[in-house]
Amino acid sequence: MSSIYVTGGKPLFGALRVQGAKNSALPILSAAVLAEGVSVIRNCPKLTDTEAALRILREVGCRVWQDEDALYVDSSGPIRPEIPSRLMREMRSSVIFLGPLLARCGEARMSAPGGCEIGARPIDLHLSALRSLGAEIDERGGNLDCRAARLRSCRIDLPFPSVGATENALLAACLGDGETVITNAAREPELRDLEAFLNSAGASVSGAGSAVIRVQGKTSLHGAVHRIMPDRIAAATWLAACAAAGGDVRLYDTEWRDYRPVLRSLREMGCDLHTGENLVRIRSLGRLKAASPIVTRPYPGFPTDAQPPLMAAALTAEGTTAFQETIFESRFRHIPELRRMGADIRTEGRTAVVWGVPKLYGAEMCAPDLRGGAALIIAALGAEGESRICGVHHLDRGYTAIEKSLAELGAETVRKEDRDG
Ligand code: EPZ
Repeated sequence: MSSIYVTGGKPLFGALRVQGAKNSALPILSAAVLAEGVSVIRNCPKLTDTEAALRILREVGCRVWQDEDALYVDSSGPIRPEIPSRLMREMRSSVIFLGPLLARCGEARMSAPGGCEIGARPIDLHLSALRSLGAEIDERGGNLDCRAARLRSCRIDLPFPSVGATENALLAACLGDGETVITNAAREPELRDLEAFLNSAGASVSGAGSAVIRVQGKTSLHGAVHRIMPDRIAAATWLAACAAAGGDVRLYDTEWRDYRPVLRSLREMGCDLHTGENLVRIRSLGRLKAASPIVTRPYPGFPTDAQPPLMAAALTAEGTTAFQETIFESRFRHIPELRRMGADIRTEGRTAVVWGVPKLYGAEMCAPDLRGGAALIIAALGAEGESRICGVHHLDRGYTAIEKSLAELGAETVRKEDRDG
């Protein structure tokens, strides 16, 4: 196991390219199972989650290789409809393979993904959508045994705009017959990226990014060529880091229109933000001010994944900033860790109120989950003294060498192996 050591108090300066989006790469890698040919995927981020997805692709019979330019997935051979629990345990969002395996093979077997650090993460909406498409799903013994001789087109009215359920329904419907309509669909930008990949593979999808997605089922899809969109949450993370530490940072290869609510809050906090074509520049000079309440919502609302990073930036802002987490039931686990640095945060249920303090002090902390870990690093950048953040494996799920990205901006962030292994 390793830890990241941060020496705080140094403003950030320089430019950073934003990595490809984890939450677009994962559904697109599962979508490659639908394509009877070679798909060429560019800008796929190197993360432990994407590595886990590649292991699943190989397990079900895809050939996978990569060069400096792209990742190649050949799904032309026979596909095995089963994911062993050892691979499901590596990444709970592997449930996103359910729809494609069901559509391609007429069956799919995997262990039901458990919860994770941020919540119970039920999949009832995924399963009800697939049953609407004609799947028979047996959920006994913590396993999912799914069969669908032929998926039928239908109308799926999602009671909640679940990102994963929208993706699984969309993927399964691609190889059905007739038109499937998904209403109250998730509108996250990653859905638009998935639609672009699928249509490049010969699918007929429209409306992704809106609340109504239409899919004309096809008998087969071919290999696609696609470049993964930039990661909007990684961008929000780097901006929050500069807000907390101070400085002048330029992000390129970023689509700022995908995270306007984050920019709005950072401007309220006193950051100077300039947006250009695939570019954002942030300057943070002097003490920040508290922002108006931040309430997480499905897109286009404030993204839940940016709540921990923005909370970290608010810790030394003048005034109080309220955060309400409406998406996940256990997404405040970074708060006790932040208090170890001197943060003043009071919580009640899904609301946390940050009372800005003049200064934070370096501390020993442990990342509770992916975005909570990012919050600890961001707070440490703006603190006085050295911090140690253990549990770096959480961070490696969603950021490619986070300590190196920050060091490119002048941060003193170093990864070291823990002496106790
Ligand atoms: C995706 O998770 C993202 N993960 C999450 O990012 C992100 O926070 C989330 O969408 C919301 O934007 C990936 O894309 C791999 P949901 P997902 O289904 O699909 C409830 C990160 O840090 N729900 O929209 O699991 C669920 O419990 C991760 O990068 C059901 O009740 O999110 C939650 O309260 C964290 N039943 C809410 O909906 C279901 O069947 C939102 O979940 C499905 C979801």
